[in-house]
Amino acid sequence: MPTAVVILAAGQGTRMQSDTPKVLHTLAGAPLVAHAMASARTLDAERTIVVTGHGGEAVTAAVHEIDPDAQTVTQEEQLGTGHALLQCLDALDGFDGDVLVLYGDTPLIRQETLEAMLEARATGTGVIVLGFHAANPTGYGRLIRDPNGALLEIVEEKEASDLQKAETFCNSGVIAADANLLRTLLPRISNDNAKGEYYLTDIVGLARADGHSATAVECDEAETLGVNSRIDLAAAERAFQFRARIEAMENGATLTDPDTVFFAQDTIIGRDVTIGPNVVFGPDVTIESGVNIHPFCHLEGCHVSRGAVIGPFARLRPGAELSENTRVGNFVEIKNATIAENTKVNHLSYIGDATLGSGTNIGAGTITCNYDGVFKHRTSIGDNVFVGSNSALVAPVTVGNAALIAAGSTITDDVPAGALALARSRQSTKGGIGKRLMDRLKSLKHGTRH
Ligand code: UD1
Ligand code: CA
Repeated sequence: MPTAVVILAAGQGTRMQSDTPKVLHTLAGAPLVAHAMASARTLDAERTIVVTGHGGEAVTAAVHEIDPDAQTVTQEEQLGTGHALLQCLDALDGFDGDVLVLYGDTPLIRQETLEAMLEARATGTGVIVLGFHAANPTGYGRLIRDPNGALLEIVEEKEASDLQKAETFCNSGVIAADANLLRTLLPRISNDNAKGEYYLTDIVGLARADGHSATAVECDEAETLGVNSRIDLAAAERAFQFRARIEAMENGATLTDPDTVFFAQDTIIGRDVTIGPNVVFGPDVTIESGVNIHPFCHLEGCHVSRGAVIGPFARLRPGAELSENTRVGNFVEIKNATIAENTKVNHLSYIGDATLGSGTNIGAGTITCNYDGVFKHRTSIGDNVFVGSNSALVAPVTVGNAALIAAGSTITDDVPAGALALARSRQSTKGGIGKRLMDRLKSLKHGTRH
């Protein structure tokens, strides 16, 4: 059955105390809304629709950047969850299948949980609601079931009797329903209730009144954590990281001190990767199998191939592309640069906007001077090149294969293949002067004369 995912994200998020719309605050390096959108991608959703309201333009732009095929629908006034979904009927036009409703601020729902809901839908049940047993149910809609477990209705806190309030089985807000059923029921939801809102939760009662069945699928309360404040955001980050570390280890990575490794939503880690303490992954990182990342590294927007060794204290920035068996050592920064196999940049270097061939050795303290204050320029270094320590390569500049650059050189002209380039002032050495100068300085210090 095809699936359409609708993500409700029109709410204001006042408690974030922020000028940024709530769903654009980041969790594991990605906006909150991207987490719900990732679920849609994994479920292979035919349509992804995000309902925006507060901060609509910024949210719309972010949504399209994450997934150009996603649709956004504006809910001008936030009149309730039922009203929000009603706004999506045009975007769902012609769609036949299951509609899965997620919240933009609830990023931790597991894929398995959503799959279980869609499986329950596949048995012909009209409406599936994701429920959980709440430690403190106050504020949640209560799921009222008959003794056979069929879902009868969802009662919002404000409408609940004391007896219903004692129910701890609560509505997470995630709902799956048949698209055609939604088309008939959503327009019938009224706002005749304590909050004067159109409650999406009313569709359970309406579906049953029309002879359709409803049921609840249960998940762990932790999955339903919604982000309403920065404190919630930190709790969600902690939960995300806890899960990501377990997953990395289950997939064959060694984490020396898991609690100090931070992954992004989209980090890809191969087998037999070793990650030392205090390593942080920003967005868009792929680490192939057999890579060793020493402590205190920061990586984002990069691809590290098999057998590479990174760090300690290395920084890989967007566009760093490391081939097999490369070495990037301590206090080295790599940005927008391709490094071919077996090449070493081991100490104290900046390699930016560059192409490095294979088997090349970049000496300690080498800098590619890529920026003239206005424009960025490229440095191109061939295979089997030896760059002596403390060299500056002023881009644009090209160094041919097997060339040799003397230590301390400032290279401003291209170096042909096989050439030796020396670009530093010649040393002059004066016999005996060193000792004489030193003796004089010492005597000055001690006030004696020789
Ligand atoms: C909702 C549920 C409640 C459930 C709880 C779980 C309803 C009526 N109630 O209550 O049963 O236990 O979530 O957290 O559905 N939103 C819009 N447009 C609107 C209103 C809300 O897009 O007009 C979005 C919000 O941005 C948010 C989500 O829908 O992501 C839930 O809205 P919220 O106001 O937090 O619902 P609750 O009152 O908490
Ligand atoms: Ca809420």
